[in-house]
Amino acid sequence: MLEIAIEAAIEAGRLLKINAGKVMHVDRKLGQETNLVTETDKKAEELIIRKIKKRYPHHDFLAEESGGSEGKSEYKWIIDPLDGTTNFTHGMPIFCVSIGLEVKGEMTLGVVYDPNLDELFTAEKGKGAFLNKRRMSVSKTSKLIESLIVTGFPYDIRSRPEAILTHFNNFLLEAQAVRRLGSAALDLCYVAAGRFDGYWENTLSPWDMAAGVLLLEEAGGLFTDFLGFPTTIYKKQVLATNRIIHDQMIAVLKKGMRKD
Ligand code: IPD
Ligand code: CA
Ligand code: CA
Repeated sequence: MLEIAIEAAIEAGRLLKINAGKVMHVDRKLGQETNLVTETDKKAEELIIRKIKKRYPHHDFLAEESGGSEGKSEYKWIIDPLDGTTNFTHGMPIFCVSIGLEVKGEMTLGVVYDPNLDELFTAEKGKGAFLNKRRMSVSKTSKLIESLIVTGFPYDIRSRPEAILTHFNNFLLEAQAVRRLGSAALDLCYVAAGRFDGYWENTLSPWDMAAGVLLLEEAGGLFTDFLGFPTTIYKKQVLATNRIIHDQMIAVLKKGMRKD
């Protein structure tokens, strides 16, 4: 299954790379002016699902553009065919393909492929996390003031800007620096690879997180909600760190919530 997921991710990734930044028809989702979807999102998703279905016709799918299949399989593939669509439409080379596999409700396999850097992130439950086949692990940074952290902003930020911007402002003053890449799956992979020390974001979807969370955990990282409680990819909130700075990030998030 890992092999099929890798093949599908690389094939879809190549499709994304060829089409990035080209003049294209862009639709808006959910009536939100900034929530974009292109033909390439859909084509990449079709390609991935076709490939997996051919080999595993009875498995279920939860994919961003086509939704969920209502099967009864113990296997559920969770797919974001193009994570970083806004970057993609501008030709900004920060986007990826994300494919996760849940078995009986547990994430067991995660593959994220970045076609621009040709970086393949893979993990299987209990077997560690790898970047281009080399084992990777989270950073050892122990102080927030020495940490490079990352976040993302939801498409509906205009409806409740304070709740999002308060945390952003607070972290800007408490961390070494804050970044915003525009791809949640890569944000998680980069914490797993030790490039970032922590990542927080509200209002994510399961396909943004499925593969990345397993990669993070297999690399030794910690994934909880903003208060430090265990969470799942179905619950929108993510605090993902190298473990060591987790409590320090929770303290900043709690400070921001008091003002909400
Ligand atoms: C988005 C990206 C972005 C995050 C958004 C996601 P999309 O996914 O991961 O970094 O901030 O919340 O929706 O729409 O590019 O697949
Ligand atoms: Ca996404
Ligand atoms: Ca997407």
